[in-house]
Amino acid sequence: MTVKGRILTGDRPTGKLHLGHYVGSIANRIRLQDEYECFFIIADLHTLTTRPEREHIAQLGDNIHEMVLDYLSAGIDPEKSAIFLQSAVTETFELNLYFEMLTTVPRLERVPSIKDMAQAAFLDAMPFGLLGYPVLQAADILLPRATLVPVGKDNESHVEVTRELARRFNFLYGEVFPVPEVLVGEVPSLIGTDGQAKMSKSLNNAIFLSDDEKTVNDKVRNMYTDPARIRADIPGKVEGNPVFIYHDAFNPNVDEVNDLKERYTQGKVGDVEVKRKLAAAINAFLTPFRERRAQYEAKPSLVREVIRAGTARARVEAAETMRRVRDAMGMYRLD
Ligand code: TRP
Repeated sequence: MTVKGRILTGDRPTGKLHLGHYVGSIANRIRLQDEYECFFIIADLHTLTTRPEREHIAQLGDNIHEMVLDYLSAGIDPEKSAIFLQSAVTETFELNLYFEMLTTVPRLERVPSIKDMAQAAFLDAMPFGLLGYPVLQAADILLPRATLVPVGKDNESHVEVTRELARRFNFLYGEVFPVPEVLVGEVPSLIGTDGQAKMSKSLNNAIFLSDDEKTVNDKVRNMYTDPARIRADIPGKVEGNPVFIYHDAFNPNVDEVNDLKERYTQGKVGDVEVKRKLAAAINAFLTPFRERRAQYEAKPSLVREVIRAGTARARVEAAETMRRVRDAMGMYRLD
């Protein structure tokens, strides 16, 4: 098959991945890894934008290990796709600096997620590096000259900055970069089990890809549903109800889901049955993940080897890009 282009996407290594990550971006990665040449970045440098403290850096090793195990369990195939460590591709620092010259502070101040991240980290003044978060991300995306970026909804505005930087660079210095397209997942922002906010590890409303069967059963049993429905014979609301949002996302049995929805709106099914079927669907969905995880966990050095090999591939592309960048810019050279 001819390759359609290159993908670059990835995550900050903050720990385990959950179902929100899966529907937002990981599902697209797995679906596209045969059609595109894929680079998946472990964005350890981006964690420093809000968490530069030594004790946070000390956790990165464990977080990286967990996250890569999640990638592999979910079906990312390291034979096809490169999983690599951002800070080990030192060209990132260099391209980041060149890009810093091609955007403005007011432009970056308009990126909505940046203020949210500062707030969430209780920072009262904006760190220089956090304001530059989307610029660093542009360096990630454009180092392998990616053409497609599958991300969650919250990253859409970052990819817009990347597109502007690619155009600006090409305009000033000549065509070096593709202007990459963004691809937002089917469920761009999955609600948490509490029904209150986006699924997030810090809010304690997440179902993790690594959760075992019993944990999934417990979390689903305690899920928020229609609060007005205090008895099973009261008609319930399907729309916006997290239990049905998850059914739509993870239960492939459409007839079962439609039947449950119908009976729910008529007050003819209890929450217990709706939730039991949801837990079964999520567990069935996670079963192949659990099988692959067991295989990878049996060889503890494998994760490191996967990252090492992926990083070597990413560096080859990054070095080539930086040759083109310096050439195009006409920087004074000593050699
Ligand atoms: N910003 C992404 C996040 O929210 C992580 C990331 C860093 C990224 N560099 C990237 C995503 C490049 C896509 C492309 O965690």
